Amino acid sequence: MTNILGDEQRLLAARVSLTQQIDRGSVVLSSRLAGAFLNVPRHPFVPVFYRRDGERFIPWRITDSDADAWLNSVYADDSLITEVDGVHAEDAAPEGLTGIPTSSSTAPSLMADMLDALDVNEGDEVYEAGTGTGYNAGVLSFLVGDKHVTTIDRSEPLTAKAHARLNAIGLAPLVIRGDGARDFPADARYDRIIATASVRRIPPEWLTRLRPGGIMVVPLKGTLAGGMVARLTKLPDGSATGYILHTPAAFMPLLSDSEAPAQVPVVPDGPCADSGLSARVLDDWSFSFFAQLHMPPGLVRSYGRNADGLHVTTLYDPADGSATRIDDMPEGPPLVTSTGARDLWQPIETAHQLWQRLNRPRREWFTIEATAKEQTVRYTAPGGQVHRWRLRGPGVEVGAGREDGEG
Ligand SMILES: C[S@@+](CC[C@H](N)C(=O)[O-])C[C@H]1O[C@@H](n2cnc3c(N)ncnc32)[C@H](O)[C@@H]1O
Repeated sequence: MTNILGDEQRLLAARVSLTQQIDRGSVVLSSRLAGAFLNVPRHPFVPVFYRRDGERFIPWRITDSDADAWLNSVYADDSLITEVDGVHAEDAAPEGLTGIPTSSSTAPSLMADMLDALDVNEGDEVYEAGTGTGYNAGVLSFLVGDKHVTTIDRSEPLTAKAHARLNAIGLAPLVIRGDGARDFPADARYDRIIATASVRRIPPEWLTRLRPGGIMVVPLKGTLAGGMVARLTKLPDGSATGYILHTPAAFMPLLSDSEAPAQVPVVPDGPCADSGLSARVLDDWSFSFFAQLHMPPGLVRSYGRNADGLHVTTLYDPADGSATRIDDMPEGPPLVTSTGARDLWQPIETAHQLWQRLNRPRREWFTIEATAKEQTVRYTAPGGQVHRWRLRGPGVEVGAGREDGEG
């Protein structure tokens, strides 16, 4: 059954193929990074992963009959889901399950772009929040030396598996269980911090733990689809400043134990209004990243087709109970129905008008500044006008992100 996993020529060919795919999919692939992907195998980290079958996630482990297909999937430039609602693929029943993915191995070209932005050098002390399978920690260990890598995940089964798998290929980074936003070995300071789970704003502890001159690469994402990756450098005054990477990224959230996922209510039929904007506009990640800047931090979006085949989107703000449903009609304008204090579609319509007026700015034209107290995303238009939005964390403040125009 596992003969293919003993065939060194076949495994090398698989790693070469993956590195070529990364080279096509990533912005830049340096020879050092290419070397890391050529040397660190992916398959030991994902002996079982889920493949999708409609709504279901079906565990897939290698068998004699499909060994080639399995290996090709492992060495494809795709993310591989390994945990759904806390159920690891290794523990799932053969018929699989439905639910929300809670851990995965990130698409390798995205790993490469983030590692490139992290600009790691041999001997740098690196902290990774989101161990997952351990593959990224393995690649990091190759780049800086395993004794210099600390990786953390909130799940004990995940850290135990990752630890064993890293050890099995001869790497021994520090793997710990805890909350990556706040748990660190005592007094530890880092040259680099990388998160492979998304945050709404940068946890203050990351600013404290990063040495001046150090770099952090952090997926920033609210609950709309548009994820972005920020790359910041720590300044001597303790703040950090940087920019947004070209690469879009929708990482799963970095969850705190106290956070329960909000349930989106059903918005009953009632008085509705026409909108000039289809909710499908949120499928454009550049726009949904921009729209998120205008929305409350805890906003939840659910979407899909209803029994009549209509595309229906619901936005919900748990802070004040407002919920807005947008029905995309087969003909005619989308219909907007709201319940609670506010129409949540209206600020997105306004954000869309601004986005158009600004000529649909690309995400890498935005910059970010962060102190422990305040975090700001900024866009400077070609004419010099500065637009700024404050990033707000969960439970910090209620109310939509505010755009301050500066002359
Ligand atoms: C996309 S996966 C990480 C991929 C991983 N770097 C790899 O190479 O396989 C995101 C991970 O973040 C973890 N996570 C979520 N919330 C966390 C938290 N508060 N602290 C640490 N890890 C967390 C999840 O358990 C999940 O394993």
